[in-house]
Amino acid sequence: MQNRPLGKSPLSVQPIGLGCMGFSEFYGNPTDEKDAIATLHAAVDLGIDHFDTAEMYGIGANEKLLGKALKGHMREVTVATKFGIGRDKETGAVTGLDGSEAALRASCEGSLMALGVETIDLYYQHRMDPQTPIEETMGVLVDLMKEGKIRAIGLSECSADTLRRACAVHPVAAVQSEYSVFSRDIEDGILPACVELGVSLVAYSPLGRGMLTGQYNREETGLSASDYRNLSPRFKGDNYAANIALVDVVKTIAAGHDAHPAQVALAWVLAQGSHIVTIPGTTKLSNLKSNIKAASLTLSNDDLAQLEALSAQVKGDRYGDMSAVNR
Ligand code: ATR
Repeated sequence: MQNRPLGKSPLSVQPIGLGCMGFSEFYGNPTDEKDAIATLHAAVDLGIDHFDTAEMYGIGANEKLLGKALKGHMREVTVATKFGIGRDKETGAVTGLDGSEAALRASCEGSLMALGVETIDLYYQHRMDPQTPIEETMGVLVDLMKEGKIRAIGLSECSADTLRRACAVHPVAAVQSEYSVFSRDIEDGILPACVELGVSLVAYSPLGRGMLTGQYNREETGLSASDYRNLSPRFKGDNYAANIALVDVVKTIAAGHDAHPAQVALAWVLAQGSHIVTIPGTTKLSNLKSNIKAASLTLSNDDLAQLEALSAQVKGDRYGDMSAVNR
């Protein structure tokens, strides 16, 4: 499939990239480093050219993994990382959101070092800092761009209003937000604002954090005790039972195309606009190979209509605490 530009920036990427968080944290135990590196090398060989990480994933470990695995390939690919969520290095607890110049510059230096690059391709504010006006943070990002430390600016989980204010300072290449068959809340605000302002949407958790892949058991998730999805309202008790039942629709559509449910979920996201790219997360080469094929799956109008009826029936918010998103 043809590359899609990231906003008005010089970057363009394949419609399907790779969310790398799961290699280090949040979705069960970290992947063995050798296996993770082998999967990342295979991803490059398969033509994946957009790798997404963040300073907070594994408290630097995920960026270091990408730095190690993609060494020698950095010119061929776009690596996106994110700043702005502080964590306690001992306990891992989130200490706060910080978009101040001091925090941003320290994070940027740390990420450059961890990734082993001179310039970060796409640098996102991970969550908006209520204490620091977006204009101030954008001013520092523009300075970092002039200094050659970043190529393009992104914002993750911002509101339409924040995006408008940010774009008045400098064009934003991409907004990264959760967007899937199960999570369509951004259609009310940020998605039309992206179209209006010429900003791309990088859809994360396009597989509903795995639920839309149809691989989960109906009775219980089978997630390990350390898996952060156990805290997600959508994966709890009656909500889980109701949500997993909705996935039957995705499975039926997939069967009609001789496709995998994950491919249907990804094809739906990509069908929502040419300014959208997505970064499904996987730690497994077999899943990666399957997911890439979604770029050539075309859903019928009837398929799209059936999928579009689902989000209104999903039970539970996408986060336990929604205060840090869409802000
Ligand atoms: P996020 O963006 O938060 O990573 P996601 O992309 O919606 O969330 O879903 C990621 C989850 O889907 C991961 O648990 C991943 O598990 P693996 O690392 O074991 O692959 C799972 N996943 C991704 N692609 C899959 C596929 N084709 N089949 C089954 N599970 C898949």
